[in-house]
Order: sequence, then C-alpha cells, then structure tokens
Amino acid sequence: MNELTENDDRIISANNLDDSEENIERSIRPQLLDQYIGQSDIKSELQVYIQAAKQREEALDHVLLYGPPGLGKTTLAMVIANELQVNIRTTSGPAIEKPGDLLSLLNELRPGDVLFIDEIHRLPKIVEEMLYSAMEDFFVDIVIGQGPTAHPVHFPLPPFTLIGATTQAGMLSAPLRDRFGIVEHMNYYTVNELEQIVRRTADIFQTAISDEGAHEVGLRSRGTPRVANRLLKRIRDFAQVASKSEIDLEIVQYALRLLKVDDLGLDDTDIKLLKTMIDFYNGGPVGLNTLAANIGEETDTIAEMYEPYLLQIGMLKRTARGRMVTDKAYLHLGYTPKQK
Ligand SMILES: Nc1ncnc2c1ncn2[C@@H]1O[C@H](COP(=O)(O)OP(=O)(O)OP(=O)(O)O)[C@@H](O)[C@H]1O
Ligand SMILES: [Mg+2]
Repeated sequence: MNELTENDDRIISANNLDDSEENIERSIRPQLLDQYIGQSDIKSELQVYIQAAKQREEALDHVLLYGPPGLGKTTLAMVIANELQVNIRTTSGPAIEKPGDLLSLLNELRPGDVLFIDEIHRLPKIVEEMLYSAMEDFFVDIVIGQGPTAHPVHFPLPPFTLIGATTQAGMLSAPLRDRFGIVEHMNYYTVNELEQIVRRTADIFQTAISDEGAHEVGLRSRGTPRVANRLLKRIRDFAQVASKSEIDLEIVQYALRLLKVDDLGLDDTDIKLLKTMIDFYNGGPVGLNTLAANIGEETDTIAEMYEPYLLQIGMLKRTARGRMVTDKAYLHLGYTPKQK
C-alpha cells in the first residue's frame, strides 16, 4: 500500500527469523519495577517492602500473586527478584510431584533468593504440607529410606522468599494462603496502560506505530498485556506484508477483522459463549459445566480465561443459579434485549 523497500526494512528489522518465541518473550518482558506498566498500587507497595527488606538485609516476606492469565504474574515475580538483586528459581505446582522434588529446589537456594511457584494451587497436598514449615521457620523434616531403615531428617534452609502465582485464589487452602505475608490481586489493565505496553513492545521490535493504532490495540486487548503483545505481533506481520512504514489505525482494523477480534476485543469463543446462552438458554441462568459442554471448551478455560473478562466488562453477571447474559451483551451482538 505504501512506498516499498526502504520502509519495509524498518518494520522487519527486529524480526529476526531465528528468534524463538522464547527469545522474543524475554526481550519484551520488563526487568524492573519502573518498566512494569500499570498495577500502580501493587508496585508502590512492593517498592516499600523491597526497600525495607534490602535495608534489613533480610529475605522479602512471601508473596502471593493472583489474577487472570496473562496479566503479568510471572513477569512481576522476575521483576521482584531483579529489584532484590537475588537469584530466582522458577517452577510450577504440577512439576513438584513429591517432597524430594521440593527439597532439591530448596536446597539450591542461597540466602534471600526467590523461589517462584507458578500455578501454586496445583501443588500435591503432601508437598504443600512440607512447604508450611519451609515458609514459616525455614526448615523441612523429611523421611529418608524405607522400612526399618527409614528415619526422619531435619533440613535447615536459608531464609528465602516464596512467590506463588495462581489464577484461582479460591482454590488455595487456607493454611497455605495464610503463610503469605504479601498478597496481591492483579487487576485487568486500562486501555491507556495497554496502549503504553503496546508502544513499549513496538519500540523493542523497532516498529513504528501511530497513536491511534496503539490506542486501538489497547482497546481490543481484553485488559491483558499478553493479548496486547500477541495482537501486536500479528498486526506487525500484516503491516510488513502491506509495506506500511508504520502500524496505523487502518492496518490495525484490517488485521483484527481478519483475526476475528471484534470492537471490544471479543473473539469467536466469547461470541459463541454469549450467543449460545441467548439462543439456547434464553439468556440464562446457565451453569458453567453445561455451557462448556455446549461450546466444546474445558470448564476451567471458560472459568479462567473467558468468564472473568466478560464479567468485568458487564456482558455477563453471576447469580446464585448460574451465569446470565446482560442487556449490554444482547445489544453488542445485535439482539433486542429481553423484555422483563
Ligand atoms: N505490566 C506490564 N508491563 C509490560 N508488559 C507486561 C506487563 N505485564 C505483563 N507484560 C507482558 O505480558 C506477557 C504476559 O505476562 P506474564 O507471562 O507475566 O503473565 P502471567 O500473569 O504470568 O500469565 P499466566 O497466568 O498465563 O502465567 C509477557 O509478554 C509480558 O512481557
Ligand atoms: Mg505466568
């Protein structure tokens, strides 16, 4: 559409084809609190706790981060470790199958280090119980050997910081939750914050983007940085192929139409979910399991990825008898709201 070659270069210059997704991911991840956009309340709290821990030369209290997928929990855990200037070891609940696995992780920590456990609500019970004393008093008791040679061994641990992340705080047992001194609930990002994230990522990609273009991507990213970055990557491809010197509103709208992302950032699954509720259940109430079965998705996927955002923007509401579609959803999908 635009002048070819010279600008072409600009769009693709960061597009190193050898880059694995992981390398791209690493390059766009903020490293320090200052680069971490949004979540300002959480950031200012953490700034104080981190500074205080550093001044006292103590390990930071254990931190629990919870919120929907893609809001930056893993990123924030890494930022915290960077700010503390300590090492971080990363693992996830389901990966720690037995007490021995946890012990070998804990064993490698140096004083003040961070152990990050993603999906901490999926830790096996026996491992979770072992974590209680590790978190509270920095030791674990473990039985070594079997049968007559079995004997308990007491392992002292260096003081460390556990950072746990979960999409479902409700699924954490009370004893585990209570052992976190710092509990932070991550919120969906504002359009303005997403716009800044898009601009920052475009900058790293050395891709020019217009104000309107960045705003539009922010608007359609479901309040979620991961979505914003993913859309930007795809739009960048469209801009490159169209030989655009910058990502402008036109190419954003064009690409998102092809990607089937609507004006509010809803995708095919969101639309299917809402339409199924309207067409087959008269707008609800419908139970989550029924709905999941109907549209061929996992119940967990709907509960974690789709429902929270639809609730947030007022397309759905929760009632004691199940989910219901709101008038806003009827109108958005071009239906006439139900007579009450
Ligand atoms: N505050 C932020 N500022 C800039 N970029 C961010 C921010 N938060 C997240 N991102 C970017 O969004 C993407 C997703 O972040 P991250 O992987 O940390 O999310 P998550 O909450 O751990 O998701 P999940 O629940 O799926 O593990 C990453 O590419 C990250 O660089
Ligand atoms: Mg994560």
